[in-house]
Amino acid sequence: MDNKPIIALDFSTIEEVQGLLRHFGHERLNVKVGMELFYQEGKKIIYYLKESGHDVFLDIKLHDIPTTVQKAMKGLAGLGVDMINVHAAGGTQMIEAAKEGLLSGTVQGVQTPSLIAVTQLTSTTEEIMHREQKVTGTLQESVLNYAQITYLAGADGVVCSVHEAKEVMNVTEPTFFRVTPGIRLLGDEHNDQKRIATPKEAVGKQATHIVVGRSITQAIDPYKTYKDVLKQWNGD
Ligand code: C5P
Repeated sequence: MDNKPIIALDFSTIEEVQGLLRHFGHERLNVKVGMELFYQEGKKIIYYLKESGHDVFLDIKLHDIPTTVQKAMKGLAGLGVDMINVHAAGGTQMIEAAKEGLLSGTVQGVQTPSLIAVTQLTSTTEEIMHREQKVTGTLQESVLNYAQITYLAGADGVVCSVHEAKEVMNVTEPTFFRVTPGIRLLGDEHNDQKRIATPKEAVGKQATHIVVGRSITQAIDPYKTYKDVLKQWNGD
């Protein structure tokens, strides 16, 4: 998957996805399929998006014992997705197993999907982390710890906030992906996102990929908004 903005297809039906994509003509996009869409439409939605020429990030955050994750990843790699994720909280062995599963399930001649890990969910506050996970220290320390675990386990990157991306880079390496949601254009609704950034800020703060959902999908003109995001992201 190249570094074009990733459009979050947070819909529950293929018809809604088709309704959005109609605005984009034949433009090849990076899209993200989350649990809502994948659990309703299954493999069909992935085949549809791939046949339409798009790169797909399958955002279903696996978290289970290593063997189960390995076998699940083997099957999911066979769908031809380009990026997929796990929860870093599953630990080093689980992340390594995920990677092995992806390698063994990739069809010959196709690139192995990039493997990234979720560090702390953006819905987890430091207070919740202390009280419920019994993790001490700051939220940022936990994010950086998970980033290092993910890096050392051989994965390709993490999902993190724009505001953590630079620090993640500093404890890993520049080529390690920092995939950042919470992106808004100036004047947009924040919705439920707490710590947002514009595409331009994301560049300055060393994100390698941005995920943009509602700013594009709920826009009056999704294609024009996508082009505005792309322009800022490309520094034009
Ligand atoms: O609509 P919006 O741009 O807020 O969508 C962001 C997308 O990124 C959603 O699909 C959301 O589930 C996802 N995401 C997030 N924060 C994370 C991980 C994923 O917002 N930490």
